[in-house]
Amino acid sequence: MTVRRLAQKQPESFDFTPENKVWCEREIAKYPKGRQASAVIPLLWKAQAQHQYWLPQRAIEKVGQMLGMPYIRVLEIATFYSMFNLEPVGKHFIQMCGTTPCMLRGSNDIKAVLEKRIGEQRHVSADGKFAWLEVECLGACCNAPMVQINDDYYEDLTPENFNKLLDDLAEGKPVKKGSQIGRTSSEPEPGKANALNDATLYDGSVVGSWQQRFAEARAAEKEAAEKAAAEKAAAAAAEKK
Ligand code: FES
Repeated sequence: MTVRRLAQKQPESFDFTPENKVWCEREIAKYPKGRQASAVIPLLWKAQAQHQYWLPQRAIEKVGQMLGMPYIRVLEIATFYSMFNLEPVGKHFIQMCGTTPCMLRGSNDIKAVLEKRIGEQRHVSADGKFAWLEVECLGACCNAPMVQINDDYYEDLTPENFNKLLDDLAEGKPVKKGSQIGRTSSEPEPGKANALNDATLYDGSVVGSWQQRFAEARAAEKEAAEKAAAEKAAAAAAEKK
């Protein structure tokens, strides 16, 4: 379990920009009178987005004031959800998925790149540009392995294309979001057949095929057992002679 505490070094003040204030008022107005506290997560999220992807104490207090909530209740929410960063996370905050589909498709190699270039998790690189964190499934498993950097997903990663992506971000160059190997959304990789076009999925020919496989396995087991018994009996008969 991770201990989540507020950053030791805090800014003196926080206020929403005029544009974000309007956005917050719109969010609050979505809820019935007396239920304004329901807007707490969107408001914390907006405060985080405005403040380089981390939540200072003053922002948590500000959200409490806007929603008429005690500070401690907003703090409980901010410290409970890992989507809220309580410490600086650099200009590019990388959340690396390490859950099974991404792991099977090479997330350990992506993690090795992060460890080599940035160092440990929850640590801002010396140039202030990067920090990273291993997270659970981000819902883009079909394009694994993947990372989320700030608000965007980067998928179909390899150590090579990921290193290049980080180089480009560090240099402020434009980068391509989504698949890094050029596929659109989750379409099949170039040159690979679309499994959904396999006619046997729809013609009924594979319905119950697992039963057939089990029947074959059971028959093979029975045949092997009978053969072993016959060999044993033959050996015993030969001994008697
Ligand atoms: S397992 Fe990585 S996105 Fe789902």
